[in-house]
This record gives sequence, structure tokens and C-alpha cells, in this order.
Amino acid sequence: MSANQSPAGKPPTATYESAFLKACRREAVPHTPVWFMRQAGRSLPEYRKVREGIPMLESCMRPELVTEITLQPVRRHGVDAAIFFSDIVVPLKAIGIDLDIKPGIGPVVENPIRSRADLARLRDLTPEDVTYVTEAIGLLTRELGGTPLIGFAGAPFTLASYLVEGGPSRNHEHTKALMYGDPQMWADLLDRLAGITAAFLKVQIEAGASAVQLFDSWVGALAPADYRRSVLPASRKVFEAVAGYGVPRIHFGVGTGELLGLMGEAGADVVGVDWRVPLDEAARRVGPGKALQGNLDPAVLFSSREAVETKTREILDAAAGLEGHVFNLGHGVLPSTDPDALTRLVEYVHTQTAR
Ligand code: CP3
Repeated sequence: MSANQSPAGKPPTATYESAFLKACRREAVPHTPVWFMRQAGRSLPEYRKVREGIPMLESCMRPELVTEITLQPVRRHGVDAAIFFSDIVVPLKAIGIDLDIKPGIGPVVENPIRSRADLARLRDLTPEDVTYVTEAIGLLTRELGGTPLIGFAGAPFTLASYLVEGGPSRNHEHTKALMYGDPQMWADLLDRLAGITAAFLKVQIEAGASAVQLFDSWVGALAPADYRRSVLPASRKVFEAVAGYGVPRIHFGVGTGELLGLMGEAGADVVGVDWRVPLDEAARRVGPGKALQGNLDPAVLFSSREAVETKTREILDAAAGLEGHVFNLGHGVLPSTDPDALTRLVEYVHTQTAR
């Protein structure tokens, strides 16, 4: 193992001492760290160039390409962390679920999971199913130097939504029908997905990821009581499964203002907040002992430079009393965002918070 390669949970010193990992651990930081959800890909011309003619899922299986795409936003914007280029449906594809990512639409599942018999199609994930992930992260940790790599996975609810609906959904009606109509099958489905998700995160940590984020993008569709009863146990199982590695665990969802306290209870070290709740109020809802991540509305980046700075300043002021703050958008970078606006935003947060 080379000096730069990190055995599970013990990154090299420069990485361990990075502003991003310090903020996640609620330690003092030299500046507020910044990264952007969906920073890899999307708005970058150099991304579109290397992806030309290669379908999304296939690109996730090519370690050299994954390495290049993951590094692009680090080089261009000077962000404080890299996020592994992959997708939340990659582990499902890897266990043989018949799905594809359609450009401009998202994940589409040929045969949705609706009956108990369908559950058998969700077998356990093993490291052998995703050797390309291990290989890519090995390459990346060598290239990244002291910049931490964030691994990620989809949370059980959000994965279940794609599997049950068969694709993206506004109302999640089939998903909710199953959740309310057959609570036992629902619990079994989420438990299986928790196992697959935990296994996928473990592969990434073992290969050298020094933090992980669980994306529960669509869980804001639920009321708190339903979240507590029908989702929290599965998400908690994922966080517990990777707790022993000691790497920071981030938990993110959209429209989760009413769920923030419960998401904290699920066990993450850092809770992601969208733009609907100011960070000081979010901290009260989440409770002590957690860092927060967020929360600039990605649409603000389409506004003037002055407006971006004003909104960013408001976020930094709201974050002033937090135990730890990782600056991010409240959701992913929108595809037509001007990349220069992102670079300027990183610079602005760094200079405004330099201590
Ligand atoms: O953050 C990063 O830059 C790392 C890569 C990443 C991708 N997807 C690459 C991708 C990450 C972290 C994801 C997570 C993901 N995937 C989520 C959770 C994050 C969120 O935004 O809430 C979800 C819900 C998905 C499912 C998914 N995959 C969607 C909704 C889409 C978009 C469809 C579209 O074309 O607009 C995808 C495809 C996808 N995943 C793309 C990328 C770069 C676009 C495909 C392309 O460039 O051809």
C-alpha cells in the first residue's frame, strides 16, 4: 500500500486535517469548507466532452473516466472535497435490476417492484459486484493528495421510490400505496435496500473514501410520523453499519424542514439542509452534537454576482453559531449553471471565513 492510500477510516494526515473533515467533526477550521452536490458533471464543458457518446451507467463503470470526472470540479473550482462520480442506482444495476438512466429523465426501472415475489430480485451486494468502484477510488485517492473524497449512496426510501414507481415521480403514489397498504412488505423492502446501501458504502470506505453521504432526496414527501415509523429504522441501520469506520456520515434530503430532528435521530454526524430553513433554525431542529451542511438555493446562481454574495453572506451569518458548518447548495448544481459562478462562490466563502 502506498503512503497516499488510505486504509479504511484512517486517511493520510493531510486529508484528516482538511477543513472539510474538521468541520464534519465539529473542530475549528481555517475557513468554512465548500463543495457542491452534483459538482461532478452537469454544468462543466470538460465533463460533457469526456462523456460524449458514453451512456451514463457505462461511464460509472470505467475507472479512468470516473477518476477524471471526479477530479474536474476540484481542479476548476478549488472545492474542499471531491464527490465520487457514480449514481444512486449503480448498486441496484450491479445486483441485476433491469434499469437505465435516461438523459434528461433519470433512472427508469423496466419491471417495477410491487409484489412480495419481486423482493427476491433484490439480492445482497458484494464487493465483487462493483470492482470498478474499488478500482476508481484507488486511483482517486492517489490523485487527490490531501483533498478528501466523499463516497455516497441513495437512502432506502429514495431508492424504493425509483424501484416501486419505475422511474422519477412527482407524487410517489405507488410507493405510498405500498407503504400504507402492506407495511410488512414495505419494511422488508427497506430493510433489504438498507443492506445493499450499507454494503455499497462499505466498499467505498474500504477503498479510501474519507466521508460518506446518504442521499434521501425525495423523503420530504413524507409526514414526520410516517418517516419515524416507516423510514427511520432503515436509514438508521445504514448509519449504524458504517459507524465503526469513524468516517463522517452526512444525511441529506430535500423539503425536509419538518423532518430535520428525526433525520438527526437516524444517526448521521452531519445533516444536510435545503434552502427552505435557515441554518440557525435548522440547528435548533436537529439538536446538539451535529454539524450542518448547506444551504444556498441553486437557483440563486442564476442571479447577479452581488445577489449571490448577499445570499451567501446571510447563510454564513446564520451559520456563525453552529458547531460545524460545511457550505453547500441546498440541492444539486442545476445543469445550466455558469461554472464561473461556482468558482467565484468558492472563493467568496473562503475569503469571507478565513480565520
Ligand atoms: O454529485 C456529483 O457530482 C456526483 C455524481 C452524482 C450523480 N448522481 C451523477 C449523475 C451523484 C451524487 C448523484 C446522486 C443522485 N442520482 C441523486 C441524489 C442527488 C439529488 O440530486 O437529489 C438522485 C436522485 C439520482 C438519480 C438521478 N440520476 C437523476 C435524478 C438523474 C438526472 C437525470 C437528468 O439527466 O437530469 C441522474 C443522472 C445523473 N447522475 C447525471 C449525473 C451527472 C446526468 C446524466 C448525464 O450527464 O448524462
